[in-house]
Amino acid sequence: MTRLFYTAALPFVAIPVLLASAVNAQNLTDAQISLVSDRLADASKASWELGTRAQAILSMNATAYSVITPSTSLPPPSPVNSTSASELQPVFDIARNIVAGRGASNGNITGPQPLIKDGSAADPASIGVAVLLANWTGQGGEDYAGAAKDQLDFLQFQVPRTSDGAISHRVAEVQLWSDFVYMVPPFLAYYGVISRNRTLLVAAHDQIRLYRDYLRDPQANNLWKHVLLGESGIDEGHWSTGNGWAAAGMLRVLGTIQNSEYANTMKNEQKDLAAWVKEIHEGMYQHLDADQNLFTNYASQPVTAPGNFFDASSTALLASTVYRLSLLWGEHSHLPLAERTRKALSSTLNNGTSDLAHLTSDGWLMPVVNPHSYGKEGSKSAEGQAFVIEMHSAWRDWVADGSKGANSALGRGAAPRVWAWVGVWMCIGGIFYI
Ligand SMILES: *[C@@H]1O[C@H](CO)[C@@H](O)[C@H](O)[C@H]1NC(C)=O
Ligand SMILES: *[C@@H]1O[C@H](CO)[C@@H](O)[C@H](O)[C@H]1NC(C)=O
Ligand SMILES: *[C@@H]1O[C@H](CO)[C@@H](O)[C@H](O)[C@H]1NC(C)=O
Ligand SMILES: *[C@@H]1O[C@H](CO)[C@@H](O)[C@H](O)[C@H]1NC(C)=O
Ligand SMILES: *[C@@H]1O[C@H](CO)[C@@H](O)[C@H](O)[C@H]1NC(C)=O
Ligand SMILES: *[C@@H]1O[C@H](CO)[C@@H](O)[C@H](O)[C@H]1NC(C)=O
Ligand SMILES: *[C@@H]1O[C@H](CO)[C@@H](O)[C@H](O)[C@H]1NC(C)=O
Repeated sequence: MTRLFYTAALPFVAIPVLLASAVNAQNLTDAQISLVSDRLADASKASWELGTRAQAILSMNATAYSVITPSTSLPPPSPVNSTSASELQPVFDIARNIVAGRGASNGNITGPQPLIKDGSAADPASIGVAVLLANWTGQGGEDYAGAAKDQLDFLQFQVPRTSDGAISHRVAEVQLWSDFVYMVPPFLAYYGVISRNRTLLVAAHDQIRLYRDYLRDPQANNLWKHVLLGESGIDEGHWSTGNGWAAAGMLRVLGTIQNSEYANTMKNEQKDLAAWVKEIHEGMYQHLDADQNLFTNYASQPVTAPGNFFDASSTALLASTVYRLSLLWGEHSHLPLAERTRKALSSTLNNGTSDLAHLTSDGWLMPVVNPHSYGKEGSKSAEGQAFVIEMHSAWRDWVADGSKGANSALGRGAAPRVWAWVGVWMCIGGIFYI
């Protein structure tokens, strides 16, 4: 009888112990972040990879110049002091290389044109913030203001639109991609702040509203579809990175408005943006895999679905947006789950080494979707590297802000505690039984 009781109680005692060792709480070290940053620099080649890298550098190392830093001044300080100048140097390098190469890339045309030739109408605009910053802080040698103006005019006057005004993500035809939200609206909003033109901040919000109207899927808890409209390449799946791009782009626009002279006259726009980010979190986090603490590449599909796989890249990006929503909007609901994913991504292997389960020894995130072929698993993802930096810097800022909401109720984080108490009571029961 006693033995039978212990056999029955064993799982209740064992489960909390196992869970405790699985939560091998760890934080990325400065050395690891430096390695991840180096691989990010190596791998960033395509237009959006350069824009995404510039944003990661600002979030991590030049926070006074990042729109998602709470209570930062916008427009940012100019001229830059020597400390900021060295932190901003890699961002200025991106801007200079792109603007210097613009003529060669676009065949020496004048007037409206993208910052770099691309089949995507949206991706080159992601570099726009770096170019606006180079102009604003008086970096010489190139016509940064002219290049930014041409990029803006290209989006406003040359890229095709839907009948209700959504700017296409593609040059050749009207097609909407969730990725757009990270590439274009933050540039419009930043341009508006620098040139003191409120219309452009309103346009940033409008474009996001239109994209949400098309891509949000009420049948899937408001997850966003990936690609709609156009002749080919439609992807109605709920691509996890696309949901992350949308949430992260919205947060940049929210931060830009909030830190600007328009904060008081654009309150409703801010409320919308915060609600739409939370809506994506609600859609995504219910699909978080409870064992791996990762999203799958298509969040609403299990990992066993044909072609699907676990994706650390979108998992890192989404986590960054949870910390940022907490910082910018005081919304903490999904923090316990974001913390879980961050710890999983930062955890060591179970073989007594300090090797990380999700970073190779030279600093590549894994497993990741191929950023140049979004249905396939890949390796060496530039954007994935940037998302680790975004996750880490957002977490760092959130810790400095007092780790608010770390223990929010209703997170799945409550489960191990419940099991632990069940185990404790079973043990006490067992002792009394003897
Ligand atoms: C990780 O960082 C947090 C916040 O600084 C700290 O409370 C925690 O102890 C750190 N964890 C480890 C394992 O170092
Ligand atoms: C941030 O600065 C650190 C320290 O200088 C450096 O190692 C790292 O590469 C930088 N990160 C990025 C994303 O630029
Ligand atoms: C340099 O500028 C940054 C951004 O404005 C500021 O945070 C920092 O305190 C300044 N450093 C010095 C030494 O003035
Ligand atoms: C653009 O201008 C550069 C420098 O003037 C020249 O070398 C290049 O051939 C031109 N390219 C085209 C496509 O006209
Ligand atoms: C370029 O910077 C100047 C300030 O140096 C500013 O007045 C102007 O509006 C900026 N132009 C653009 C396109 O951002
Ligand atoms: C503000 O931006 C809008 C949209 O690009 C433009 O039509 C308008 O002329 C700009 N206003 C000023 C004062 O530059
Ligand atoms: C730990 O595991 C990793 C991945 O399986 C492996 O590459 C590494 O060599 C292992 N280290 C040791 C000391 O066994």
